[in-house]
Amino acid sequence: MQTVRLAHRGRIAILTIDNPPVNALSAALRADLARAVGDAVANPAIDAIVIAASGRAFIAGADISEFGKPPVAPILPEVLDVIENAAKPVVAAIHGVALGGGLEVALACHGRVASPGAKLGLPEIKLGLIPGAGGTQRLPRLIGAAKAFPIMLGGEPISAGKALELGLVDEVVSGDLVEAAVTLASGLAAKGAWERTGERAVRLTQVDREAFEAQAMNAAAKSGDLPNVKALIASVRNAFDLDFAQALVAERALFTALVADDRSKALRYVFFAERDVARVPGIGPEVKPRPIESAAVIGAGTMGGGIAMCFANAGIPVTLIETEQAQIDNGMNRVAAIYEMSVTRGSLTPELRDRRMALISGAVGLTAAANADIVVEAAFEEMGVKLQIFGALDGIAKPGAILASNTSYLDIPTIAAVTKRPQDVIGMHFFSPANVMKLLEVVRPAGAAPDAIATAVTLGRTLGKVAVVVGNCFGFVGNRMLAQRTRAAERLLIAGALPHEVDAAVTDFGFKMGPFAMSDLAGNDIGWRTRKALGRKAAVADALCEAGRFGQKTGKGYFLYPEGARTGQRDPEVETLIAHVSAQKGVTRRSFTAEEIVSRLMDPMVNEGARILEEGIAARPGDIDVIWLNGYSWPAWRGGPMYWADAVGLDVIVRRLEAQATETGDVSLQPAPLLRKLVAEGKSFSSLKDAAA
Ligand code: 3HC
Repeated sequence: MQTVRLAHRGRIAILTIDNPPVNALSAALRADLARAVGDAVANPAIDAIVIAASGRAFIAGADISEFGKPPVAPILPEVLDVIENAAKPVVAAIHGVALGGGLEVALACHGRVASPGAKLGLPEIKLGLIPGAGGTQRLPRLIGAAKAFPIMLGGEPISAGKALELGLVDEVVSGDLVEAAVTLASGLAAKGAWERTGERAVRLTQVDREAFEAQAMNAAAKSGDLPNVKALIASVRNAFDLDFAQALVAERALFTALVADDRSKALRYVFFAERDVARVPGIGPEVKPRPIESAAVIGAGTMGGGIAMCFANAGIPVTLIETEQAQIDNGMNRVAAIYEMSVTRGSLTPELRDRRMALISGAVGLTAAANADIVVEAAFEEMGVKLQIFGALDGIAKPGAILASNTSYLDIPTIAAVTKRPQDVIGMHFFSPANVMKLLEVVRPAGAAPDAIATAVTLGRTLGKVAVVVGNCFGFVGNRMLAQRTRAAERLLIAGALPHEVDAAVTDFGFKMGPFAMSDLAGNDIGWRTRKALGRKAAVADALCEAGRFGQKTGKGYFLYPEGARTGQRDPEVETLIAHVSAQKGVTRRSFTAEEIVSRLMDPMVNEGARILEEGIAARPGDIDVIWLNGYSWPAWRGGPMYWADAVGLDVIVRRLEAQATETGDVSLQPAPLLRKLVAEGKSFSSLKDAAA
């Protein structure tokens, strides 16, 4: 297939990149582009060249799926060399996104015009990489290192307007983009002079260097020893210290080493896993989502308010429903305070705040949900309450409205059964704080209509969430696995570990918080109430709650929080209490290494993940990983629990689980049949990806 189309406007060659869906720089495109530029340069009827693109993006970057495979010539730096050193001027016409290698193509051109909606960025850092086709050299040379470095360090794209202000593009064009590029290219050709970005070093001044070094010091302090940040700093520094050709060679070496790094491999896996979740088994493109133009949220508590904010942020009018006006007022005040905080921080303009607030209205009574296209119930987590609400909603909501419960563990089919429209009843499990957390578990009970699920998935995307469809079961995917970690953490305390040791092992692993600090933050009474409702016990956790140690809100939990401190301190009282529980159970306490702690916490989660896959609750291991990454802050560079298990080796996990099951006598720790099967076949979870999809 030809990925570059050639057309002429007078003496200008227009090369239009056409490599759907997003014009990633595959081997074929690289070859076609280099050839097309070469041909145009050789053609005496051509004075200048425009590189444009069709579809929704200019170029989304290197083809990430090719990373880790043997490189196929021409590699991108070679193509850019052809462009930059062409004997005729080359101008990029940028629409949509120009990311990574895509922006590097534009940087190698001699001029750049962009449409007003274009976004330009070097997001390689998010994949554990640095720009590897001259980005770390050309961008500093074009706009100065102190302006270029933050763009590469943050990885967030900038707008066309900002790019113009920085001198990254020459012109922002509302009308015919290609025509503007043609005009610029002909002008350069007529002048007979154009600049190569690689030769523009005027901005690399001593002042610029000092500003960059200060930023670099800051970045190094914040990111610890992340190899990509280190490499980025080194490479940008090379822009000052080495000549362009040498610096390019050094950049490529740093880039190539990073591509081989496990952290980048995990981040690339995450990139594709997050896109795979959109492929829901049994729901093809023929299933059309229902239009969602208005919403109602039942319950104006922290969760309900946060969910209402998600709708308002996406421009969807939403009614917040409660049983009393005072509760609505409280809820609205809480929402207003959160928006206000964003305004104070500068992340939201007052105008946008007003627009969003205007989209949220409060109402007493369920009848206010009559016109909503979707109703999300975020009321008290008790089946009786839910049944009453859904029973009433059935008589109120308009036909075809999606009726969703935000329950975090209750049975959706039981809720659906009180309505005469079970096909429209689903779970939409948001994570707290709902306006911040990216994860949305869309719970699909057996009776749900495919288009109801498609609607929730599409809506999730509109709300800026990563929506993962999961089957119905107690706790769904995330909380069901979390329960295993919570039980394992309690077991560790009884066996001899202390809360700060467990938390330290988990934060060293890469989580922002350990399980005990997290429980103290959320409130230990939540789990206590659930255990009581289920008739379950956890000796240490229960004893703490009986002593009123609910966590941060009571100033003490697993840790002490004097004077409202947010970081807990060790408490000898808790440690005595734990030792007492161990003694009562006749356990001789022993110490645990950080590695043992991690495996004892994570292996049971992986085991539960395997059961979840066996039962078809999650469609693929990647879906489970995406849930843990976006809902539970699993460190992205470790790829997620199932990816981690593959890296450890499933045979190792199985052996460790067997040992734990024997030691504790807990049969639930016996490896799941799927784990044993994979080990017997010498396979890993990753082998299941295609089978399920
Ligand atoms: N390589 C390979 N495939 C890519 C890709 C890339 N760079 N970018 C997107 N895709 C694929 C996706 O996997 C998806 O495939 P699917 O439909 O089969 O699942 C399809 O293109 C559409 O992607 P999205 O679903 O993400 O579509 P959106 O419209 O939501 O977003 C986007 C488009 C903003 C371009 C987003 O896909 C994106 O951010 N892509 C990655 C950009 C990036 O990181 N580029 C840098 C790559 S590294 C690099 O260039 C190194 C260089 O310096 C040498």
